[in-house]
Amino acid sequence: MTVGPWRGPWPDDPRLDPQLLREGDTRNVADRYRYWTVEAIVADLDTRRHDLHVAIENWQHDFNIGSIVRTANAFNVAGVHIIGKRRWNRRGAMVTDRYVHVHHHSDAAAFIAWADRERIAVVGVDNLPGAVPLETTGLPRSCVLVFGQEGPGLTEEVARACDLMVAIAQFGSTRSINAGAAAAIAMHAWIREHADLSSMEY
Ligand SMILES: C[S@@+](CC[C@H](N)C(=O)[O-])C[C@H]1O[C@@H](n2cnc3c(N)ncnc32)[C@H](O)[C@@H]1O
Repeated sequence: MTVGPWRGPWPDDPRLDPQLLREGDTRNVADRYRYWTVEAIVADLDTRRHDLHVAIENWQHDFNIGSIVRTANAFNVAGVHIIGKRRWNRRGAMVTDRYVHVHHHSDAAAFIAWADRERIAVVGVDNLPGAVPLETTGLPRSCVLVFGQEGPGLTEEVARACDLMVAIAQFGSTRSINAGAAAAIAMHAWIREHADLSSMEY
């Protein structure tokens, strides 16, 4: 739902954006963030980011990255990591990248070094030999879920560095599902296991 120009006494809350108050807020943001500046929304999200990161290999401008960023924003992950090309396909992100901390790693080695430094478990998500079922496997609270590209999937270098490799059970004829869909399923598995749902209101 979008909102029109602010009506009533002019608010003096510094989190509110005078232009949005004047012109209305048509952004796709949760109702509690209506009229807030982007900076104020990011600062608020930063107070309760999850211990979850996601990473995607980007060697061919994968079109799924935008949708992964949007889902990562919905689940308030700590960071999104692009491995490979710095430029990524923003279509599908619906400007949610403004509210997410996006990091770039020039290659797999740089990404793995970052995870080592931060002591974050690297969890590969791919249907590769040796993977265990996501449906019956616990995910570490502090982890980075890594996704491969349409076509090749995870590179050997990243797959070798994973502390755990999980696969999503499939029952049809297709070899794999779309990486954006796989990312949403895997992030939600982490949410089901670790997120605090006690204050959810709809
Ligand atoms: C289209 S898949 C291609 C790779 C796949 N290994 C294959 O054999 O064709 C692209 C990415 O989506 C994710 N993915 C797709 N289906 C998956 C599944 N069933 N389990 C886990 N990840 C999956 C993985 O991250 C994978 O790297």
